[in-house]
Amino acid sequence: MAFNPLKEKGIPVEKQLKDWSTLNVKPYDKNDVNPYTRCRIIIMNGAEVEGAFFSHQFARHCDDIELKRTLAMARRVEQQQQKRINWLIPANESPLEVTIGYEQVAVDLTAALAQNEPDPVVKAALDFALLEDFDHLYRYADLLEMTQGIKAENIVGKMTEITVGRPTVSEHRHPFDEIRPNYSAEKADILTKLHVMIIVAAEQQTMNFYMNVGNRAETDIGRGLYQEIGMVEEQHVTHYESLADPTMSWFMRDVMHQYTECYLYHSFMQQEADDRIRKIWEEHLDMEIGQLKASCEMMKKHEKRDAAEFLPAAMPKPLIMESNIDYVRKIMAEQTDFNAKGTEYVPGEQIPSDYRYFDHQKMVNGSWVPSQDIIRQYIEKNGKDYRLEIKGPHPVKRFQKRDKVVK
Ligand SMILES: [Fe+2]
Ligand SMILES: [Fe+2]
Ligand SMILES: [Fe+2]
Ligand SMILES: [Fe+2]
Repeated sequence: MAFNPLKEKGIPVEKQLKDWSTLNVKPYDKNDVNPYTRCRIIIMNGAEVEGAFFSHQFARHCDDIELKRTLAMARRVEQQQQKRINWLIPANESPLEVTIGYEQVAVDLTAALAQNEPDPVVKAALDFALLEDFDHLYRYADLLEMTQGIKAENIVGKMTEITVGRPTVSEHRHPFDEIRPNYSAEKADILTKLHVMIIVAAEQQTMNFYMNVGNRAETDIGRGLYQEIGMVEEQHVTHYESLADPTMSWFMRDVMHQYTECYLYHSFMQQEADDRIRKIWEEHLDMEIGQLKASCEMMKKHEKRDAAEFLPAAMPKPLIMESNIDYVRKIMAEQTDFNAKGTEYVPGEQIPSDYRYFDHQKMVNGSWVPSQDIIRQYIEKNGKDYRLEIKGPHPVKRFQKRDKVVK
């Protein structure tokens, strides 16, 4: 049956606050959690963080005290939801192990969105960055094995391959080359709006996470790797946020945030095998329905606009977190050497030798590139790199060698 959150009852926002013992959930067991349960937790945490920060920005641009109060109320709840979800991650899962989960999200979430994205511009953006996060997973996995003796395949559950993507060293582009054309809010498909909202929240959470935990790495190479990849996540947020229509009003954005949270919880409760966690997704969906209704009321009051004009009568088909090995391989084979020139993606050989890309590369890479050095160090110690290729040799020939660092 078609699901329309606007037609559901939901829980009123003022009835949503919870006590500390409800929020302070028991973390999952890192040894038996389903990798996609971990991924869903990371995605929902990112969506809630985005919800809270968006609401803060809204409040800072708002000179109506009643409106600020309404925002503060809903934001308090978003913050509680965020705590409840993020506290599902146990303390014995180290920041680097959690990082593997973040990059698995970046691979399998991006691949899922790309395969269902109706707008070719947005699909191209997803495919382009997909190969970059795919490479991050490989670099961090080698760091994890080398420094903690833990194999990342036990975290990603052999659902996601771990190998060279677009080498991180070549991902450092000039800031001007991260800006893309934006969709139009009036014309875009609802899936496009959802996808951009979701991927921005996920990449932003990854960016924030590395901003904070990057200096927790104990080795010099680890600290360097987080710096380098952390800066690529800044590029990814810039890249993805530029896809959204910048003319949407604060009220429309607010409604879209709540609708996106409804979509994610509704998607995830349908595929969650862990009963305890599924109940959280179900309860949070009911809460988001209440929040969505409150946001629609706010829009009606201040802009005299009915959100039903731009929200569909039925929610689109759910986002499924699953293995995407064949799809990632296909994009690898086609686009590994792609680069960005202005708003476009072009094969690397089409970048003129005097293009700003090369100056930027020279500036940041200097004489030491941690993402290359980690593989060099790993090979020096073990004879070949750490990788997990499930469906045969690497689809790009020059990356098949495992005893040499390739660019
Ligand atoms: Fe929320
Ligand atoms: Fe990444
Ligand atoms: Fe990323
Ligand atoms: Fe919300």
